[in-house]
Amino acid sequence: MANFSKKIQKEPFITVAKIAEKLNISTFIIGGYVRDLLLDRQSEDVDFVVIGNGIEFVNQLAPALDKDIKPKVFENFGTAMIRYKNMEMEFVGARKESYRKNSRKPIVENGTLEDDQKRRDFTINALSISLNKADFGELYDPFNGLEDLKNKIIRTPLDPDITFSDDPLRMLRAIRFATQLQFEIEEKTYEAIKRNKNRISIISKERITDEINKIILAPKPSIGFKILEETGLLKLIFPEMVMLKGVETINGKSHKDNFYHTLEVLDNVANVSDNLWLRWAAILHDIAKPVTKRFDKKAGWTFHGHEFVGAKMVPRIFKKMKLPLNEKMHFVQKMVLLHLRPIVLAQDHVTDSAIRRLLFDAGDDIDLLMQLCDADITSKNEAKVKRYLKNFQLVRKKLKEVEEKDSIRNWQPPITGEIIMDTFGLKPSKKVGEIKTRIREAILDGKIHNSYEEAFPFMLETGKSMGLQVHSMEHAPEKSVNK
Ligand code: CTP
Repeated sequence: MANFSKKIQKEPFITVAKIAEKLNISTFIIGGYVRDLLLDRQSEDVDFVVIGNGIEFVNQLAPALDKDIKPKVFENFGTAMIRYKNMEMEFVGARKESYRKNSRKPIVENGTLEDDQKRRDFTINALSISLNKADFGELYDPFNGLEDLKNKIIRTPLDPDITFSDDPLRMLRAIRFATQLQFEIEEKTYEAIKRNKNRISIISKERITDEINKIILAPKPSIGFKILEETGLLKLIFPEMVMLKGVETINGKSHKDNFYHTLEVLDNVANVSDNLWLRWAAILHDIAKPVTKRFDKKAGWTFHGHEFVGAKMVPRIFKKMKLPLNEKMHFVQKMVLLHLRPIVLAQDHVTDSAIRRLLFDAGDDIDLLMQLCDADITSKNEAKVKRYLKNFQLVRKKLKEVEEKDSIRNWQPPITGEIIMDTFGLKPSKKVGEIKTRIREAILDGKIHNSYEEAFPFMLETGKSMGLQVHSMEHAPEKSVNK
């Protein structure tokens, strides 16, 4: 048997082992922490199994670790938790029925360590290390989890049909671990996912989305999405994404497969950013291509307006997937809406006014938008990729120049509604908004500078052209009064 005592000769394990000896209760580290310890991955959540009462154990352990620690006890489930430094330690009595973190079902029957191990999700998550004096550091591995860890295999300890029917979320967990760890799902386990996929319907949207987000945050998220698609799960949990798949050919003209393109964009973004929402923007940037797809004899395949339609689809998708309907969603919407703008700019002659408009629309998210646009260039034609990236550099340079000159990024109107109302003796009305819009447009078009001194006389002219009388000049800038 392998012994890992060296790896656990530290707190809190030393104290846990002392209490185990004192109470004469067999205690083991189990689950993800052991897996990550053997993979040399950092982990802060530790699960312990005690052969006996987990709550009693923790009541003794907490003061021994630190007198200020207050355990959180869940009587119904026979579990207790403590926070120690940055670690979250969870203690549970070994059980015979399935181990489910979010289960509302109370435990029914106490069991042995092996009973507990076999009701866990995967062999690599059923590994356990002893904290008992007689065999401190010994690995308990009845299902060859260590071998699977070495061979990079995800496999259920029991018949996968049983493991997945105990908790269908485990099908997504298998795919999530395959993505995070870049492991293969063993064939029988894989086939069982295909067979049991419809059982995912009993799992809450929140738990499903948690797993999807973990897949998205992995170093190469495409791995997970390809398996989700191949097993048929993606169609059940995120059908809009499956719609992107496929290539159609008319008159010898084909469009690209937007599912694989999207995954390339997602991986490209993942290479440069850990931002979950930028990664979501990558997933959704072309989501409306299937519904906007047309074939034109002259132009070939077109997806006109897919950025507008796509931006409109974002709230619906976020709501369905229980993603937050807040500024994160607005950010993703904005990215989807604007994702073509820098490309258009890079193709055309870049004018200052187009740059100002892009800065105005993107605001502080302009750098993230540029990252998304870089990632969106997935052509196999290297010369084309080079040309685009070079043009993007030019767009970036221009963005910087114009921003330095005009400060459009976090634009605040130089003339407020109050000033307009005071000057023309107006009450809040449509006319006030119209004047504000005209001032903004003049600034974005470069007709006037983004300054109070230039915006004020422009406002006077605009008001006059609308037939308004000047009521007060109290807000006039000094220069303009002197004129
Ligand atoms: N577990 C399980 N079935 C589940 C969830 C969890 O069998 N549906 C078991 C596994 O043994 C797992 C342990 O509970 O290792 C802890 O679960 P969790 O903290 O959700 O996952 P980890 O494996 O620790 O991985 P991560 O922290 O990356 O989520």
